[in-house]
Amino acid sequence: MMKKHSTLALVALVATVIAGGALAAEGGNPKKGKYLYKKHCKACHSAGAEAPELTPLSKTMKQWDRYFKRNKHKHNPDAWQALSDQEKLDINQFLFDHALDSDQPQTCG
Ligand code: HEC
Repeated sequence: MMKKHSTLALVALVATVIAGGALAAEGGNPKKGKYLYKKHCKACHSAGAEAPELTPLSKTMKQWDRYFKRNKHKHNPDAWQALSDQEKLDINQFLFDHALDSDQPQTCG
């Protein structure tokens, strides 16, 4: 009896984690994210600049979420930390919505 119960609980937990994972980039404002991306990221991350060109379709949705979950930018950690959690969520949302495997893959424009 006990055993059956905990198995059910585990199944419910796993289902929650999976559903939560799929929605990882929910809650950000992609319009703001695009603006913030251009303002805070593009200077370095465009063709001919110091860092490799980076646009939404440089990565898959999962890869973007993983990057923002790690919440580290090794090469200019101060600027990264200066962004609020909401701002990072917005940027995450913009990149996620237009990732390589999204419905609307996009370069930054
Ligand atoms: C001051 C310049 C600078 C700014 C501003 C900057 N980056 Fe970077 N970024 C770099 C450099 C340099 C690297 C390392 C490139 C390499 O690995 O060769 C890097 C690496 C990265 C990587 C890893 C590259 C990869 O292919 O996985 C990601 C993702 C990234 N930056 C995202 C961002 C985002 C998002 C922002 C804006 C919030 C941002 N960066 C702002 C300079 C910058």
